[in-house]
Amino acid sequence: MYSSIKLIKRKVSKIKTIDFDNFSFGSVFTDHMFECDFIDNEWINPVIKPYEKIELEPSASVFHYGQAVFEGMKAYKDEEDNVWLFRPDQNFFRINKSSERLAIPKFPKDIFFDALKKLVDLERDWIKKGEGKSLYIRPFVIANQYAIQASPSSNYKFMIICAPATLYYTKKLKVLIADKYSRAASGGVGYAKAAGNYAGQFFPTKLAKKQGFDQIIWTDSNEHKYLEEAGTMNVFFRINDSLVTAPITDTILDGVTRKSIIQIANDMGINVIIKKISTNQLIDSAKKGDLKEIFGAGTAAVVSEIEGFQYKDQYFELSHIDNSYAKILKDELVGIQTNSRPDIHNWRFKI
Ligand code: COI
Repeated sequence: MYSSIKLIKRKVSKIKTIDFDNFSFGSVFTDHMFECDFIDNEWINPVIKPYEKIELEPSASVFHYGQAVFEGMKAYKDEEDNVWLFRPDQNFFRINKSSERLAIPKFPKDIFFDALKKLVDLERDWIKKGEGKSLYIRPFVIANQYAIQASPSSNYKFMIICAPATLYYTKKLKVLIADKYSRAASGGVGYAKAAGNYAGQFFPTKLAKKQGFDQIIWTDSNEHKYLEEAGTMNVFFRINDSLVTAPITDTILDGVTRKSIIQIANDMGINVIIKKISTNQLIDSAKKGDLKEIFGAGTAAVVSEIEGFQYKDQYFELSHIDNSYAKILKDELVGIQTNSRPDIHNWRFKI
């Protein structure tokens, strides 16, 4: 039975060696990490210890079958230096949903929240204030049975590492609409935050980047007809004054930022339509001048504006718009996250 997390503190912090104004997202890690092992059908030995290498045999099943899931969450500091998480219950729920799909044992809620609170509290000096600044928190689970039979591992490691975060995208994005490769197929693992979902996007995204695009908007794998998500973010389309986004299916990640944006838009009286939207409909709207904005929403990406999209050989550039929904919704979201706007849905969680 779980009692408490062991704490081994790092003797000297690395924090003074970090230039907080000069690093890219996810490349610097804080002093400590959380680790907990699943052995003999039990999650045991929860420990917070200095961030360091972990040792695994080459036969560890994660290396061979990719049995791994993760989450992305952020901690923010307000003007009085209070530290807040945003909707951590959603990440807890989703990591276990992802785990279930990958045949990974569920992680206990009490250890998840205890670990999160203690680790983030310990690393509060790493959370900076200012535009785009936060602490990115990465819980993840890997399969580490030393055996290469293709079956679920008997052993797992649950870990949480933290990285001071800056803006993920620093400029408006150009996106390519997928017409050949797919991110996810119906009945597959697209809705889970499975490590392999991301690896599978790297090659097509690399090709898209060579053509000058920042991201791909994935379409359904049957017909490449309906717009799904952008891999690092869910996608919203403003058509005239309505905000349209795809419904969550088993090929689309149920984004926490996505559902928060929908709620905030509803609260503001913006008409939100959750429905399948096809590339042809998008192009028609763009041609008629009805397509006013496209933006992505995700934990790392927050709300990231898209300036244009390409489908096959045609590129559509969106005109600049003052007081965009993207800006209004982002300001409200970040305001809630950083405790500068009222939190009417009780989304903030104090550390
Ligand atoms: C997140 O937004 O937390 C994600 O998981 C996207 C990631 C690829 C940075």
